[in-house]
Amino acid sequence: MTTSSVRHFLEFSDFSRDELEHIFARTRIIKDRFKRYQLYRPLTDRTLAMVFEKASTRTRVSFEAGMYQMGGSVIHLTTGDSQLGRAEPIEDTARVISRMVDIVMIRTFEQSKIERFAGNSRVPVINGLTNEYHPCQILADIYTFLELRGPIQGRTVAWIGDANNVAYTWLQAAQQLGFTLNFASPPGYGPDPSLISRGPHLKLCQDPREAASGAELVTTDVWTSMGYEAESDARRKAFEHWMVDASVMAVAHPEALFMHCLPAHRGEEVSAEVLDGPQSAVWDEAENRLHAQKALLEYLLLGRDVE
Ligand code: CP
Ligand code: NVA
Repeated sequence: MTTSSVRHFLEFSDFSRDELEHIFARTRIIKDRFKRYQLYRPLTDRTLAMVFEKASTRTRVSFEAGMYQMGGSVIHLTTGDSQLGRAEPIEDTARVISRMVDIVMIRTFEQSKIERFAGNSRVPVINGLTNEYHPCQILADIYTFLELRGPIQGRTVAWIGDANNVAYTWLQAAQQLGFTLNFASPPGYGPDPSLISRGPHLKLCQDPREAASGAELVTTDVWTSMGYEAESDARRKAFEHWMVDASVMAVAHPEALFMHCLPAHRGEEVSAEVLDGPQSAVWDEAENRLHAQKALLEYLLLGRDVE
């Protein structure tokens, strides 16, 4: 197999709308079976290697549990316990790991690093979060919206926070799936023009209320993402009036959902009242990481030839 013919999921836009719709349809089937305790083990003898260069709870547990539930197995590596931490080039690591396993998931820093890994991998590579993107999160988020509110096409989603990995992925999803993202960030924390495409899917807003106005989904994230800890104090000041609280949710659509990829900081980017309130979908959203990623693993390893 040549490395160039392998499909990867490094950005949300790596998959067409048709492929994404297939994955959402499979997520529903796989989740239903799981809830009925019906065995579904199409990945017997397949191995997933997971490489974590940043901390994780949800991503690790959902990939690890999902792979075992589908009959496969998992190897968990971190920078500290592998030769990556002793400067073995990422290209060499990719060449070696991808001769031994069937699929790889990586959580790392720069997107260029996962691209270099994928460029040297014989097997599919999944982005488990980089500084720029978090495509598995948005697969689960959109599936959750679909489950609770129906198709996302034509809807309005409000992003309130900095232009981080989750935000850029929402933006790709808006373009790919045909909805509008109202994007509000404090001055100096907005999107990098080189990472966004302008169009009807993006509306830049000045403040949280403008973004939330009429939105059917309001979403936010921590003020300081992993890897940017040195900026925490400056960010705390810049984001002081940017909490998603009941007054922000009040201007959204009456049936609006609230989502957050988690982990969340109650009293910073979101009030406890909203995070733990009736509009919050965060626990379904977290659970759906498991089901959506099982559909993703199935698609990358088996294609559409599945029961
Ligand atoms: N949302 C998310 O990716 O969570 P973890 O950092 O716990 O994996
Ligand atoms: N934007 C956050 C997401 C964590 C899941 C971060 O990168 O730390």
